[in-house]
Amino acid sequence: MKVTVFGVGYVGLVQAAVFAEVGHDVVCVDVDENKIDDLKNGIIPIFEPGLTPLVTSNYDAGRLVFSTQPRHGVEHGDLIIIAVGTPPDEDGAADLSHVLSVATAIATHMQTPKIIITKSTVPVGTADKVRLKLREVLDELGKPTDFDVVSNPEFLKEGAAVGDCMRPDRIIIGTDSTKAESKLRELYAPFNRNHDKVIVMDIRSAELTKYAANCMLATKISFMNEMANLAEYFGADVEHVRRGIGSDPRIGYQFIYPGCGYGGSCFPKDVQALIRSAHAVGYPARILESVEAVNKEQKMKLFDYIYRHFNGHLAGKKVALWGLAFKPNTDDMREASSRVLMEQLWQAGATVQAYDPQAMDEAQRIYGSRSDLKLMGTKEAALDGADFLVICTEWQVFRAPDFPLIKEKLSEPLVFDGRNLYEPDRMLEYGLLYYAIGRGLSV
Ligand code: UGA
Repeated sequence: MKVTVFGVGYVGLVQAAVFAEVGHDVVCVDVDENKIDDLKNGIIPIFEPGLTPLVTSNYDAGRLVFSTQPRHGVEHGDLIIIAVGTPPDEDGAADLSHVLSVATAIATHMQTPKIIITKSTVPVGTADKVRLKLREVLDELGKPTDFDVVSNPEFLKEGAAVGDCMRPDRIIIGTDSTKAESKLRELYAPFNRNHDKVIVMDIRSAELTKYAANCMLATKISFMNEMANLAEYFGADVEHVRRGIGSDPRIGYQFIYPGCGYGGSCFPKDVQALIRSAHAVGYPARILESVEAVNKEQKMKLFDYIYRHFNGHLAGKKVALWGLAFKPNTDDMREASSRVLMEQLWQAGATVQAYDPQAMDEAQRIYGSRSDLKLMGTKEAALDGADFLVICTEWQVFRAPDFPLIKEKLSEPLVFDGRNLYEPDRMLEYGLLYYAIGRGLSV
């Protein structure tokens, strides 16, 4: 099938490459000329396992084409996917200007009927706005061309995006058109194996499903972080509690890991956007507000431990930091807990020596060269001359470190772990004082 994808961000690029891989003819359009040039030269703007070979092999095979020309994309695709960003505006609502400008471009250049698919995470009612915009521009140009608008949200996770796209749990199709439904079923047929994963619904329900999924997951995390905080007051160990409740299949083990808060480009933004949408219709959204508030506080948790441990005397301390990315297997530092921590440490007069397996360039890009941040080449180098160690991301390479070396290198045998990677008893055996989230027992 002939598919066009507007926006080569995470969602657009991965989905485009995966469509090309199963034999669809895909054109990707983006306004960012540098990004498009890089992609043509095999330079992938994001770190995502498995993505580079997928993009380059399909580009070489001619099934994946990159362009900065909206006309090229609109003429090519019978199905046109909108996967551009919806960044939060100043009060947290999703900014739809990119989505609507793509709609304008589509209407301007379309000569034949098209199916327009919104894949960006967009507030309920956006498909109607896209439809209106298309109609308005088509009317202005005196073109009676027919089109359908479909909501088809994406559920991929960074770090596992290619696999998630290849083997989706579900394929949500929000539409009021049987013709559009059957075209999307055909588009997704290569991924719809074993059992029917397609769930068809009205457009508004599809739009809300996307937010509901992310907000539910964020709720699980904030709930668990609240349990961790309570465990500290009660002298319980949240890791036992986690296993205890996760064993109930109604609760499940996933997304109940307590930690130093959730980050990334989705959860914080989507929870906030749904709160704003709720307020706009006069609904208070108390659960979502609490989820957000708990997460904001949780991101300050590590600094709290550190501040209390040193009675506020942090000026001149050198802090080893393992993990900058908001989660493992990505170089993404958007809304990462490490950033909140570093900013608090700097404000208190401490300096940071950080190591992350992927996010070093990103940290350099965000913070430039500042004298209170040193980016180190290995996790061991980050310990050199440091006073204590803090962990913000659960990269696999941090899970079984050389504990005696940590003790030897740090001026104080002190580890603050925001991801609960180690057993408190083992840390005691190694002579390390260990602060973890909701495991107050060893402190
Ligand atoms: C999230 C969703 O998981 C995807 O299904 C969705 O498609 C995507 O947002 C999106 O809307 O595009 P992602 O942001 O890549 O995916 O990351 P997650 O793996 O969900 O992790 C989010 C944050 O939650 C991370 O900071 C992680 O450390 C934290 N987390 C996760 C916890 O603190 N505890 C857990 O138990 C799980």
